[in-house]
Amino acid sequence: MKIAVAKGDGIGPEIMEAVLRIFKANKVPLEYELVDMGKWVFDKGFSNGMTPEAQQTIEQLGILFKGPMETPKGKGVKSVNVTARKTWNTYANKRVFQTLHGVDTVFSKAGIPIDITVVRENIEDTYGGIEHMLTHDVALSRRFITRPGSMQVIKYAFEMARKVEARRITCGHKANIMKITDGLFLECFYEVAKEYPELKSDDVIVDDLCMKLVTRPDTFDVVVLTNLQGDIVSDLCAGLVGGLGFAPSANIGDHICIFEAVHGTAPDIMGKNIANPTALLLSGLAMLRHLGLMENAATIENALLFTLESGVHTGDFGDKSTKSLNTTDFADAIIGNFGQLPKHGAKPSWPNKPATPTDFKLLVNPMLISKEMEEEQIVGADFFIESAEQPEIIAKKCQRHGGVKFKLINISNRGTQVWPTGSVYTNLVNQYNARFESLDGEPLNQQDIIGLYVSLSGNFKVCSLELLNMWGGKRAYSLAQGQ
Ligand code: NAI
Repeated sequence: MKIAVAKGDGIGPEIMEAVLRIFKANKVPLEYELVDMGKWVFDKGFSNGMTPEAQQTIEQLGILFKGPMETPKGKGVKSVNVTARKTWNTYANKRVFQTLHGVDTVFSKAGIPIDITVVRENIEDTYGGIEHMLTHDVALSRRFITRPGSMQVIKYAFEMARKVEARRITCGHKANIMKITDGLFLECFYEVAKEYPELKSDDVIVDDLCMKLVTRPDTFDVVVLTNLQGDIVSDLCAGLVGGLGFAPSANIGDHICIFEAVHGTAPDIMGKNIANPTALLLSGLAMLRHLGLMENAATIENALLFTLESGVHTGDFGDKSTKSLNTTDFADAIIGNFGQLPKHGAKPSWPNKPATPTDFKLLVNPMLISKEMEEEQIVGADFFIESAEQPEIIAKKCQRHGGVKFKLINISNRGTQVWPTGSVYTNLVNQYNARFESLDGEPLNQQDIIGLYVSLSGNFKVCSLELLNMWGGKRAYSLAQGQ
């Protein structure tokens, strides 16, 4: 089997070389094709951080094992790490956080075992990076949560939870505030949960989840979240088991998977051969298991756990009174412990059953549609307009543009209603949302909305516009606070 390998930037080449040496010593039956990705590729003028040849190789081989990569700052380019995950639709980011004996934390010292798998949605949410300045003072980020995208990651999380015989699967969310976006994610969670009655499934609001994860981490098993919340919660979980140096990450898609460590390029220690390769090694072990190389994965993981238990460590963790090893010697210590079993958490060894490569070449982009369109009716529009005037004055101007089809329903500023009722204690910014609805409940069409847009533009700069839709009699938009 052949896989693509990108060594990465900073400490990337050092830790990748250590991990591949461990694989070689264990006779892992893999061939590696090195691909060009990362900072130096940006510097050569490839704006997405990878060469076309790298993209072609990865799409052909289906597996990318990568070191951390630096995104050049202030050049307007997007992170190659995020681009790779999104381009190849690796919709589920799986991160396993387990107590590692030899890596002291407050929980290990208190005898509280941790075994949490965070599954984070990996494509959508604010990571679309679709951002605009609406006025000089007001920035807007669009947050996409889609039904097909949520279903893909949630189905993966349940399937994985079933396979590992998890006790509990929890959805973290903020649906009490973001009723439509997080509400959709939560709805998908319980829709999928119906197909897994043997699993205890529940949901926890994300702020409460953070508190519970640090007070009772042992009560959680699998946690599934949207992208940004998942990003934050998974770093919190990394902290519970000893930090980012022990956090592996698998980006799973239907056709292409990417395995990488969670940490970055650690520029402060690059070139010194002192970086800890454990997180990349754990990511590599997840990759070996994904490829059916169970025996290799178990031997190497048991050797790693035995090494950690013996108190062997790199400079970033462990007993400071004992000498730390450099990256190369740490890898050699693991190789020297092949065949040893740790006292705690030894992994059972099954024979290798290499996955048969599938011919997954796609000819067109898959279109994901999960629900039949319901009857749709446009009932109004939200006009985001620039103005530094008081709400009463804006209302008077807006009402003049309503004509025979529209009535002005309300005006809000940063989501808080300021007209027809409101409080003078609400601070304002120079961008309002004027909500218009059909005057007599008659259905509207797009031409009606454009007519109102043209009319309003005589008085205001219209920064942005959203239609107000009813789907099958249900409101497909949120009410302003106080409406
Ligand atoms: P970082 O994770 O590189 O470093 C944070 C701290 O942890 C530093 O003190 C570093 O020395 C230490 N550290 C990280 N990994 C270590 C290891 N394996 N062994 C020992 N110590 C380790 O985060 P930072 O400084 O915020 O980011 C540096 C660069 O990495 C940035 O350009 C960022 O964009 C990139 N990055 C790339 C990621 C990826 O490729 N997936 C993820 C996160 C950041």
